[in-house]
Amino acid sequence: ETFEANANVRVEITGKVALLTLNRDQALNALNSALMQELIAKMQQLEANSDIGCFVITGNSRVFCAGADIKEMQSKSCQQMLAEDYFSPWERFTAIKTPKIAAVCGYALGGGCELAMMCDLIYAGESAVFAQPEINLGVIPGIGGTQRLTRSIGKAKAMDLILTGRYMAASEAEQSGLVARVFTDETLLEEALFAAQSISEKGRLSVALAKEAIEQSMELPLTQGLLFERRVFHSLFASEAQQEGMAAFIEKRRPSFTQF
Ligand code: HXC
Repeated sequence: ETFEANANVRVEITGKVALLTLNRDQALNALNSALMQELIAKMQQLEANSDIGCFVITGNSRVFCAGADIKEMQSKSCQQMLAEDYFSPWERFTAIKTPKIAAVCGYALGGGCELAMMCDLIYAGESAVFAQPEINLGVIPGIGGTQRLTRSIGKAKAMDLILTGRYMAASEAEQSGLVARVFTDETLLEEALFAAQSISEKGRLSVALAKEAIEQSMELPLTQGLLFERRVFHSLFASEAQQEGMAAFIEKRRPSFTQF
């Protein structure tokens, strides 16, 4: 466990699950460069040096994240944005192979909604509110909102949300398919950690490849996607996880994937 005094991101490890709590309360967890770099660095470090099988990213009871830091962006020029390739470090976040669950209570606005969508799975508390309000700032979503939201909930809802900037409550987000499940605010974190623990107990290879196959469904034509899946399925027959999983079923016991 690390509780550095000025950390923008708090890390708590329980077993094979790392809980990352955004901790920039004074700015409603707005994603300035410092927070972004810290979040990504901590996750990369944990992935490289520990046995973490799943991340849970959360905020506090009122705010998940109010978006990209408007104060940091405000005075930048177009040339600066292009030269810095502003927001490009987030590619390192999405490249993290370990599954990431967003546990969202309260506001997930702009970059906050996009951060949740860069995770593999979103669970929400009843108070969760999702929006892409960038249109009200004279810009558009810049960390994947127009692409991931559209793939997630379809063109009609994405247009509705992104062009009006309106708020979408947890129930609508669940009905639309943005959010996997909604819990009471009080039980959200417990449920997210429970799911994360469950994922972390599966075979690492099968989890990583299942995740990659689902991600490929967003990129590939169906025939290619099905072929990718089948080849991955075939290749898993060279894994110890397949031997253990199938042997455990035949022997009527629980599989133990912990060593793989
Ligand atoms: C920087 C922010 C911020 C943000 C809030 N704050 N959101 N600072 N960037 N995105 C700061 C406020 O300036 C204020 O600082 C403090 O946090 C508390 O916020 P308040 O507005 O006073 O709180 P409240 O009245 O409770 O309203 C909460 C809120 C509102 C509804 C969430 O803060 C809000 O609408 N925020 C902006 C949401 C948004 O537009 N997000 C999209 C950002 S753009 P002080 O110093 O006054 O105490 C984006 C993608 C950009 O994410 C892509 C295009 C380039």
